Amino acid sequence: MSRNFKLRPLESKSQSRSEKNGAIDRRAFMRLSFNTAAGLITLGALGSVGFASFLMGQSSGGSSDSSIKFYVPKGSDVWYSSMDKQPMTMQAFRDEAASSPTGMAGAAGLWSGLPIIATYVPHEENKNKPLSENEPRFQMMDGYTAGGAYVGSGFEIEEKEEYASLNIHDNMVIVFARCPHLCCIPGWQLVQNDFTNDNWLPGGTDSGGQKSFCICHSSRYDHTVIEKNTARNRSNGQEFDFIGVKKTGGPAPYGMPLIPFTVNGDTIEALPDFLDWYTFCG
Ligand code: FES
Repeated sequence: MSRNFKLRPLESKSQSRSEKNGAIDRRAFMRLSFNTAAGLITLGALGSVGFASFLMGQSSGGSSDSSIKFYVPKGSDVWYSSMDKQPMTMQAFRDEAASSPTGMAGAAGLWSGLPIIATYVPHEENKNKPLSENEPRFQMMDGYTAGGAYVGSGFEIEEKEEYASLNIHDNMVIVFARCPHLCCIPGWQLVQNDFTNDNWLPGGTDSGGQKSFCICHSSRYDHTVIEKNTARNRSNGQEFDFIGVKKTGGPAPYGMPLIPFTVNGDTIEALPDFLDWYTFCG
């Protein structure tokens, strides 16, 4: 996949909505998902260009912005509230993870207007320990279609050159955060339930916490499980394989794809590879 193009700069839109302080309810989440984060990729603004074309960015010229910014949903009380629209840094995640019983930390963000979730996992610290509760690490697993057909292994990011940019590094994974069910934007600990609590179980099961959670119809995703799966562009029917995190429960047919990234100094920057992976919502 070529990198010879420029991404559109992150737009800075005014956000006039007033939100109540406190927990986000379903209605607020839906509004935030579609009008705030996704508002930066609003279909109306895209017109006939289409979502996929938008993802491809500009062919040349113009400015680019590869940094990923924190995105604080209005009305939420998240650990990165004071860093809204600021570039994500590794240190911010390490600081937050230090106060977690699992050593994990996650945050919502925007990359070139696209919703993402970044998840810090103390993989290096735990990878050689016996698998046990609350000692998370990344787990490479086999991926299967909703019909049970084997697709591939998460180990392919280590074995195949085409996926080399996805090799796990810096104790972090970043996913393109649109739910493969009906394209809502899953959150990271924006609601509190058994799936989002700050505890972790090995094995990629639906049990245990530290899942991203889509409030629209309750799909859950384990960002510590890396698998290969098959997605389908709902607009043109095209199927394509991707490497992503595992869906553990709910109606979503598969997990969400990884976004390759690099750490520049301490700033987290996305790499514009695998853009076809981000088109499953049309
Ligand atoms: S859109 Fe996410 S579960 Fe339905």
